[in-house]
Amino acid sequence: MSKGKKSKIQCRNLWKIFGPEPDQIIPNWDQHQGLNKVELLKKTGCVVGTRDASFEVEEGEIFCLMGLSGSGKSTLLRCINRLHMPTSGEVFVDGLNITSLPDDALRGFRRSKTGMVFQHFALLPHRRLIENAGFGLEVQGIDKAVREKKAAEALELVGLKGWEKSYPYELSGGMQQRVGLARALATDPSILLMDEAFSALDPLIRRQMQDEFVNLIKKVNKTIVFVTHDLNEALRIAGHIAVMKDGFIVQQGTPAELVLHPESSYVEEFVRDLPKIKFVTAGDIMEDVGVYRVKPEDTAENIINKMDHNNLRFVYLTDSDQGIVGVLDYFQIVGEQGICRTKQPPSDQRIIRDFPVARTDTFLEELLTIGSGYRIPIAVRDERDRLIGVISRETLLTALTKV
Ligand SMILES: Nc1ncnc2c1ncn2[C@@H]1O[C@H](COP(=O)(O)OP(=O)(O)O)[C@@H](O)[C@H]1O
Ligand SMILES: [Mg+2]
Repeated sequence: MSKGKKSKIQCRNLWKIFGPEPDQIIPNWDQHQGLNKVELLKKTGCVVGTRDASFEVEEGEIFCLMGLSGSGKSTLLRCINRLHMPTSGEVFVDGLNITSLPDDALRGFRRSKTGMVFQHFALLPHRRLIENAGFGLEVQGIDKAVREKKAAEALELVGLKGWEKSYPYELSGGMQQRVGLARALATDPSILLMDEAFSALDPLIRRQMQDEFVNLIKKVNKTIVFVTHDLNEALRIAGHIAVMKDGFIVQQGTPAELVLHPESSYVEEFVRDLPKIKFVTAGDIMEDVGVYRVKPEDTAENIINKMDHNNLRFVYLTDSDQGIVGVLDYFQIVGEQGICRTKQPPSDQRIIRDFPVARTDTFLEELLTIGSGYRIPIAVRDERDRLIGVISRETLLTALTKV
């Protein structure tokens, strides 16, 4: 969990064993762990779906379960809303223990908090899009007028305004998948569980969907658990990724952590040929803003002392909301010292208003472009435009030597 983020979903030590006596497997796992799937099946009649998986998903993030086919992604995803009852372990959503919910409460939880999107869109062919998108609401018994209003909003959200009256067969694959997404969004669940949702799409459409999806999710503040077998897809969309192998999570972390620090040869193999410059972000490399920040009331003398002390050429002048007012250049203020009294803040005309800016999710590749032509370190701002980090040229160059 990153600092300050709220945890939405917690999965603790989840096991799902398929077979006649699943409970027997877990306490005796030591005796079985050397066996492959076929051998285990022969010996015990059981198959491991997922094994001792623990992870947390932050509110509003996209969390990817990534792994080869058969590695247990779908099984683990289904444990979250108990489409599979875990053999052991617990799932908490908003602090509520899902694994111990009675059936009626479980149905309520599924209906009100979760939506699912699958690889095969499963649209109803004889229904118009508006009815397809409103299907979840219909199941909930919502009346037609409200249903159509919400369905229309959801269709608009996924870029299908104007298509309400069309039938699925009139749509391309990418558009059909959007309807699947609209159907899940229409009930306004706080969590979306998505299983290979884009896997059936052509590569070009798929990449376009990934980008649109990331933007869409930012707007609607949903928490997403997204299953994919495609590492590139996971790297493009995820805040955090869990890499699965044989039912087990072998490593989890941010895209940059996985790419830069694979902890096993298995993950190493996955990430070996990736262009890392495309996955490392400003947030991964930025420096603490502390020494780079001065306030409007700071005197020129204090600012110069601070810059001398930290050996800085530039500092950022920020207001009380951490918004950036501008940049001060050491040499310009020193020049000014002789003219003005040093007990005054630097004069307005000394403030440089043109400086390089990035967001925490700006990729290293783009940072190079942003920073070029400036000696001023790049300011990293959050979504409320507050200065939260700085990337100096040295930091940028050091990061480049590591990728
Ligand atoms: N209902 C089931 N009964 C028996 N074995 C299953 C069942 N569902 C999945 N499995 C097995 O569990 C393992 C993980 O499957 P799955 O979660 O579907 O993997 P993935 O989604 O990563 O492809 C596989 O070995 C699969 O054969
Ligand atoms: Mg699957």
